[in-house]
Amino acid sequence: MNALTLFVPCAAGVEAFLAHEVAQITGLPARDLQTLRGGVLLQGSWRAAMQLNLHSRLGMRVLIQLAHQPYTSEDDIYQAASAVAWEMWFTPKQTFRVDFTAQHSPLKSLNFAALRVKDAIADRFREKAGVRPDVDTQHPHVRVHLHLSETFASIYLDTSGDPLFKRGWRTDKGDAPLKETLAAAMLAASGWSMPHLTAPGETPPATPSVAGVEQGVALYDPCCGSGTIAIEAAQIACRIAPGLQRRFGFEHLRMYDAHVWRQLQDEARAQQCPPRAAVHGSDVAFRMVDFAQRNAERAGVAKALNLRGGDALQRMPPTDVPGIMLVNPPYGERIEAAGVAGAASLARSGAREVGQVEDGGEFFSQLASHWKKNYAGWRAWVLTPDLKLPGRMRLKESRRVPMWNGPIECRMFRFDLQAGSLRKTASVGDPPPAA
Ligand SMILES: C[S@@+](CC[C@H](N)C(=O)[O-])C[C@H]1O[C@@H](n2cnc3c(N)ncnc32)[C@H](O)[C@@H]1O
Repeated sequence: MNALTLFVPCAAGVEAFLAHEVAQITGLPARDLQTLRGGVLLQGSWRAAMQLNLHSRLGMRVLIQLAHQPYTSEDDIYQAASAVAWEMWFTPKQTFRVDFTAQHSPLKSLNFAALRVKDAIADRFREKAGVRPDVDTQHPHVRVHLHLSETFASIYLDTSGDPLFKRGWRTDKGDAPLKETLAAAMLAASGWSMPHLTAPGETPPATPSVAGVEQGVALYDPCCGSGTIAIEAAQIACRIAPGLQRRFGFEHLRMYDAHVWRQLQDEARAQQCPPRAAVHGSDVAFRMVDFAQRNAERAGVAKALNLRGGDALQRMPPTDVPGIMLVNPPYGERIEAAGVAGAASLARSGAREVGQVEDGGEFFSQLASHWKKNYAGWRAWVLTPDLKLPGRMRLKESRRVPMWNGPIECRMFRFDLQAGSLRKTASVGDPPPAA
């Protein structure tokens, strides 16, 4: 099979990490990959498309680009879709649906543009095979994506089916679970699952950095909820491919060869190893710890993960040697900072339900004091939409990485904890250090 043009979309801010991951999975040199806004474009084989689906933790989908051309009207889009040999990819017995995204498209109705793609596919099949495939918007065999920029229309065939953050192990969700892809992006940005990447314009270090997991650095999430960060980390520590427990859209495509796919799965299973680093998680809500435990079992990492109940304001470090903390703390609309800080706040407010804090203020200042006292030498990364968090915690961040939690713009703040690392003067508007 000739090289395909593959596009792997990802959340904004994750592109550089994804490019590194794609290079690792496919073996392609970085220069053969184009890091674009919102994803990575590459020339790869059908096999590479399957490998990316199986191994990518950061990509949202793996798309095959079938058309990419200038447009000014819906007719141009119809023509572009008609020129694609859809009959090579699937049969009229299979159902399909067309999704769309757009950025600055001048067209009035994007829905109508997507309908024209649907018409073009149906007309082409009717012409070539005398019969057209049906549309199924709920459970289609085949998904087609139309993306419109201001001047270009791109048409993609989706090889993933369900988005890749659905790893297949989560049934217990908790209240505000992170997407698995975002948890993986946090692990990459922290330097635990990937070496620290040099930002454009930054001087690379004299000796290249080594991922924390390779060095056996412990990872701890003290507000683990349903366990997303810890489970992603434990799978990485055990080299468990994220796609081993789910089905993919490519299984419905003509090119699919079950034998080759099984080989790739077997190769992935053969890579698995005992955990290369210890992973710990805890949460004040025992119900959440139960969820995390059950999820960990389904994800195949129950033994690689140490889960406990307990208040983040009281729990002592899980290891003697300092490691990395990665925290998606209770915050915002659905905040449920429970435990010591929650109880204190409730006592004052007279609220009925135990453990709720509205603005998280006390929780974060107490967390900072607890870390300063007991976690010297640890490095903590906190994901938050609150750009003033370092000031609130009276800690000085050593790094800030932009990250999107769905539509919410967040930062990951890095705090290098040392006894006495409290800020002397907490000034929230301080300029950020060079990231
Ligand atoms: C935003 S959720 C974390 C979600 C998690 N990342 C996941 O994917 O499921 C915040 C978690 O902090 C927990 N939490 C609240 N107060 C806490 C405290 N004092 N100590 C430890 N955990 C706490 C909540 O029970 C909740 O599970």
